[in-house]
Amino acid sequence: MMSSFVSIAIDGPAAAGKSTVAKIVAKKLGYVYIDTGAMYRAFTYAVIKAGLDPKNEEQACSLVGKVSIELTEDGCVLCNGEDVSKPIRGNEVSSNVSYIASYKTIRLELIKLQRELASHQNVVMDGRDIGSYVLPDAQVKVFQVASVETRAKRRYDENLAKGIQTSLEEVAENVRQRDYIDSHRDFDPLVKDKDAIELDTSNLNIEESAAAVLEIVAKKLGEKQ
Ligand code: DC
Repeated sequence: MMSSFVSIAIDGPAAAGKSTVAKIVAKKLGYVYIDTGAMYRAFTYAVIKAGLDPKNEEQACSLVGKVSIELTEDGCVLCNGEDVSKPIRGNEVSSNVSYIASYKTIRLELIKLQRELASHQNVVMDGRDIGSYVLPDAQVKVFQVASVETRAKRRYDENLAKGIQTSLEEVAENVRQRDYIDSHRDFDPLVKDKDAIELDTSNLNIEESAAAVLEIVAKKLGEKQ
C-alpha cells in the first residue's frame, strides 16, 4: 500500500538520540514528527495507573481497545485525555515499557495507529521497527546507533533537564536491559532493516547527527525523482 506521502523512518536502540534528531529533521522539512516510543510509554502508564501488572501479559492486554493515545501538535502525549508527557519519562514507566512493547496484541494496536498517522501526511517516525515492520515502504530508513556509554549519558542529561532525578549507572543499566528485551522479543524485534542506512552518532553532536540524516534524506528522495 504505497501512499503519496513521504515517510522517514528513524530506528535504533534506546537513547540513541533518535527523537531529538527526528524532531529537528521534521521541523526542517515541515513534516509531522511521530514518537512511537511515547505511545508504548503511554500504554505502560495506563497499565500501571489501572493497578495492573505490566509484566503480566494477560492483565496488560486487557486494556487493548480501552486506551486512547494522542500526540498533540505541540508535542504533548495524551493518554485517555490526560497529559502524561512527564510521567512517561520517569523510572517506573521506563523500566516497564519493554515488557509492554513485547506483547503482540498491544503492538498490533499501536502499529495500526502509527500506519494510520503516516497514511495522510508526511512523517518522520522514530522507533524500533518502523522501517522493518510498520512502514516497510518508507522512502528513507535510517538506523541510528551509539555506544551504551554515550546513550546513557545523553538520557541522563535529558532527564536532568526535565527535572527527573536518576543516577547515571541506573540509566545505563536501564538502557542495556531495554536493548536486550527489545532485540530478543519474539514478535517484531528491534532489527536493522536491509534497506536502512546505519548512522553511528557516538562522536556526533545533535546538529551533526541531524545534518547527517538530512543528507541521507536529500540523497534518497533525490534518487526517487
Ligand atoms: O524510544 P523509547 O525509549 O521512548 O521507547 C520506549 C520503549 O518502547 C522501548 O523500550 C522499546 C519500545 N518501542 C518499540 O518496541 N517499538 C517502537 N516502535 C518504539 C518503541
